[in-house]
Amino acid sequence: MCGITGYIGKNKNAINVVINGLESLEYRGYDSAGIAYVLNNKVNIIKEQGKIVNLKNKIDFNIQSNLAIGHTRWATHGEPNQINSHPHSQGKFTIVHNGIIENYLELKQELIENGYKFKSSTDTEVACTYMDFIYSKNNNILKTLNEVSKVFRGSYAFGIICEDDLDNLYALRKTSPLIIANGNNENYIASDVPAILRYTNKYILLDDMEIAKINSDKVVVYNQNLEIVKKEILEFEGSFESSMKCGYEHFMLKEIHEEPSVFKNTINAYFDGDFKNIPDLTKYNNIHIVACGSAYHAGLVGKYLIEKYANIPVYVEVASEYRYKHNFYDKDTLVILVSQSGETADTLASLRMVKEKNIDTLSIVNVVGSSIARESKYVIYTKAGCEIAVATTKAYLAQISVFALITMYLSNNKSKEILEEINNIPNLLEEIINIDYKNISSEIYQNQNIFFIGRGIDYSICMEGSLKLKEISYINSVAYQAGELKHGTISLIEKNTPVVALCTDDSLLEKTISNIKEVKARGAKVIFITTSDIEGDFYDFKVNVPKVNELLQPIITIVPLQLIAYDVAKLNGCDIDKPRNLAKSVTVE
Ligand code: G6P
Repeated sequence: MCGITGYIGKNKNAINVVINGLESLEYRGYDSAGIAYVLNNKVNIIKEQGKIVNLKNKIDFNIQSNLAIGHTRWATHGEPNQINSHPHSQGKFTIVHNGIIENYLELKQELIENGYKFKSSTDTEVACTYMDFIYSKNNNILKTLNEVSKVFRGSYAFGIICEDDLDNLYALRKTSPLIIANGNNENYIASDVPAILRYTNKYILLDDMEIAKINSDKVVVYNQNLEIVKKEILEFEGSFESSMKCGYEHFMLKEIHEEPSVFKNTINAYFDGDFKNIPDLTKYNNIHIVACGSAYHAGLVGKYLIEKYANIPVYVEVASEYRYKHNFYDKDTLVILVSQSGETADTLASLRMVKEKNIDTLSIVNVVGSSIARESKYVIYTKAGCEIAVATTKAYLAQISVFALITMYLSNNKSKEILEEINNIPNLLEEIINIDYKNISSEIYQNQNIFFIGRGIDYSICMEGSLKLKEISYINSVAYQAGELKHGTISLIEKNTPVVALCTDDSLLEKTISNIKEVKARGAKVIFITTSDIEGDFYDFKVNVPKVNELLQPIITIVPLQLIAYDVAKLNGCDIDKPRNLAKSVTVE
């Protein structure tokens, strides 16, 4: 949800570094992009609506600068036009911002009364102006940033340039992520690791309300009392290549192809015939799972598995609802937060709300050191590596792998059989990834409505398959419990409406086939995805999925749905890695 980056140093051209960094952060938003760079002691701003490529076309890369900040935007306040694009400047300050200043309207009023004028309708221009306003009174940049951090409500990660100190780049954060990476005679700031990976994999994380003063030689971090704090240097496990397409046409395709190793790495970190690195979860007698988007769908799989095999009641809710409703806890409730980014605003707010009630929390998170991971009592990291495509694939697969693990742990299942099955999953994933699904995709890509049906755990997979398809191909798709379709939705089925029907549970096969026949009788084009070898005239296409232990079945079953969504989006000429209106990391409510 907006990406920011910045560079100060003697070795490289700040403009190149910032643009490269923005390109690696484009998954965070692509409504507009902009850069501010220092040349001959003056701050210059270039910004452009749309993707970073539009901005690049306006930049003269022969210009040499050693201080720059940049921004790629997912619009929140103000339409995504050129004026509302970042950087914003006012008086002596130029800033880029990820987050939302919730009290910006009241601050704007105060500033207007003090004679300031505004060009844009953004909260960021207000934040920048407020910095200038405070600075005009105290003439001290650190004190200004400290003071504004106490006034601004909401979330922010700022990259800041002040005309009076062009030897330093400043940063300030609350809730929105911000990292600082050190080089030799150069330093970087960024919203996320991919922006710095081509230079270094070592970085520090700025904590809430901390201010960083950064020049080419050193980084000094101050706390809320303006005392210097020592920061731990973290090391990112992945390589620069992990953030590149490496010959694949799209990140999404590359990330699907990484799923066998993601599964292996995730399982190996916590199970080697016995459980390891898993916190003691045995004392909880009810579980809430809270998440957004695909992570919520992973939670639905978790619910099904934990309830069935560990016999513990599980309640699953989307975070934006959970945080505002009346929930039931007791002293033995565990709340599990699931998040790829570890920064999703509603999931983070739910975590904080639950902690206030002294309820234990476990997060399942991909990004190491992210807010949700740091603030939870326990954390289990998924080992998916950098995920760049906005539509998640491998991180979702890692999340459902962790739920399989937690279920095994809670039901104390470390049998020889499950170990053998686990060892075979990467091969099965390879096989299913390499099947060509184009015969199916080419039959359905022109339809306006597509339905996914399934029962039990297959319904949870249908929800994820349906979301994948609609988010990247813009085709309306809906997931339904197979038995529920006839209570209304079946009226939408007409001749050639595609219905993707999942059945991997033999005990539900006959029931599901009856539901398939109901849609087939109304002209539906049925794509039957199953572990069963049953044949018949009730489907148009059949995908045979290898049968594995039910704990691991979703890990295999989701793959054809991801690949069909990919192919359909490609046939429709969609921007697969950057679907319209979306952002990968949603740091606003
Ligand atoms: C966005 C992404 C989804 C993701 C959801 C939750 O909507 O596009 O792919 O599932 O946020 O994100 P999280 O980082 O918390 O898993």
